[in-house]
Amino acid sequence: MQFSFQDYQQSADFIKAKLKGFQPEALLVLGSGLGFLGDVLENPIVVPYGEIPNFKVSTAPGHKGQFVFGLLGGKNVVVMQGRMHIYEGYSAEDVVYPVRVCRLLGATTMIVTNACGGVNEAYEVGELMLITDFIKTAQPNPLIGPNIPEFGPRFCDMSYTFSKAYRGLAKEVASEMGLNIHEGVYYYTTGPQYETPAEIRAFRILGADVVGMSTVPESLAANHAGMKILGISLVTNMAAGILDQPLTEKEVLDAAEAAKEPFSQLIIRFLEKME
Ligand code: HPA
Repeated sequence: MQFSFQDYQQSADFIKAKLKGFQPEALLVLGSGLGFLGDVLENPIVVPYGEIPNFKVSTAPGHKGQFVFGLLGGKNVVVMQGRMHIYEGYSAEDVVYPVRVCRLLGATTMIVTNACGGVNEAYEVGELMLITDFIKTAQPNPLIGPNIPEFGPRFCDMSYTFSKAYRGLAKEVASEMGLNIHEGVYYYTTGPQYETPAEIRAFRILGADVVGMSTVPESLAANHAGMKILGISLVTNMAAGILDQPLTEKEVLDAAEAAKEPFSQLIIRFLEKME
C-alpha cells in the first residue's frame, strides 16, 4: 500500500492531540535489549500503535507495540517500543511509517541501534560500532513509489547519512566511559535467515564490517526527511562461518542482555551532550 502525505499527517495529528504540547526532539529506534529505555523516561506519555490511525502493529515476540514520549538525558524524546522488520512481512514503507510520523511531530534526530553479526574479524562479540555508512543491494526500498516532496526529494543524497558530528560526540562519550567503540559499515539483509558463510565472505570483500536485518529502511526514510542520524550496532555474534559453530538467536539475545547497561548509558550520555 502506498501511503499519502495525508495518511502520515492524520497519524501525527492523532498523536499530537495526546501530547499536550510536548514535542520530541529525538526519535529512538532501539534494537534487542534496549527497549527498556522506554520504561525509564521521565513524565512518560504512552501511545499504543494499535490506537493510531493507519498504523501497523509490531508483532515480534517480546516487543511491545507503542510509542513512549518523555524526557531522557534531559532531552525530549520518543522511544519506539517495538519496531517493525521486513522479515515479519511488513513492507519497507510500513517499517518507516513511524519514522515519518515522528518527523511530522517535530523530531529532527534519530538514534537507531541494532544487534548485528561481526563481519570484520578484528571485531569481538559485545563490542559497539558507530555506523559510518551502509550497503544495501537489491532489498526492498521504502522510497520506491511516488515521492512525497513534503518529506524530501525524489533523488535523495546518501553521502552523509550518518552524522559525523554525532559520531564525534558518541566517541567522546565512549572514551569518557572507557568503552572501546568501532566505526564501520553496516551491510543490510532482510533476513530472516542468517547469512551463509559464502555471503559473509562476499560482504567482507564488498566492504562490510557488520551485517544485520534492520536500521537501513529507517535510516533511508530519516535521511530523506532531513533528520540527523546516529546509528550504533552491537556485535552480538561473529557472522556465519567465522567461527566453526552454528549461529543461534539465544547467543544474540544473551549478548544484547549483557551489553544493556553500557549501551544504554552511552545513549543517555549522548543525549545529555547533544545540542
Ligand atoms: N546476521 C544478521 N543479523 C544479525 C546477526 C547476524 O549474524 N546477528 C544479529 N543480527
